[in-house]
Amino acid sequence: MSRKRTAVLISGRGSNMGALISAAMEPTYPAEIALVVSNRPDAKGLERAAEFGIPTAVVDHTGFAGDREAFEKSVDAVLKEHRIELVALAGFMRILTPYLVNAWSGRMINIHPALLPSFKGLATHERALDEGVKLHGATVHFVSAEMDDGPIIVQGAVPVLDNDTPDTLAARVLEVEHRIYPKALELVAIGKTKVTGARVLTGGDGDASLQLVWPG
Ligand code: GRF
Repeated sequence: MSRKRTAVLISGRGSNMGALISAAMEPTYPAEIALVVSNRPDAKGLERAAEFGIPTAVVDHTGFAGDREAFEKSVDAVLKEHRIELVALAGFMRILTPYLVNAWSGRMINIHPALLPSFKGLATHERALDEGVKLHGATVHFVSAEMDDGPIIVQGAVPVLDNDTPDTLAARVLEVEHRIYPKALELVAIGKTKVTGARVLTGGDGDASLQLVWPG
């Protein structure tokens, strides 16, 4: 089995990156984390990746004077240089232009800390509490031109408790993120994700566990 060469794009602490690296340490996992790219030279996740012996690269967006496409061309060049086949965005805090989205269409996935299509954008946990939802969670989806949009691959749900603060809720969601991201990358890497219109079919006929993760 050839493992899909996967790059993880980060901007910060990289805990989801860590979850993907851990999963990929299993020899039978169908993807290998072949590269970690950050747009911030000081991203904590870079040190973590290096500790695991994973090649890292920095493409500092501040060097592109607001030219998003030029920044993305540099990112794309690094991905090509490392013969990357799949890209996993993990807390990568840049809004993408159609350039990179189209270049990696069907091969780029993202994790978002909410049950999409609810709560796109930032401050998802605060907004979930403000809205009084009882169920919250995280989503891994293919990246499309719209931010936090695109066909959904896996979701993980957690309860919202009466005494939750944004921080306690974030921590509960993060645990589920670390479970669903490796699962989603696995499904994509083995080619189990068939996009039909807005839906991703993963062969979960009668087996929802392929697409939905509950706590516990
Ligand atoms: C996660 O909550 C992820 O869902 C969001 O950004 C955060 C990144 O956290 N896109 P980490 O860097 O993976 O720890």
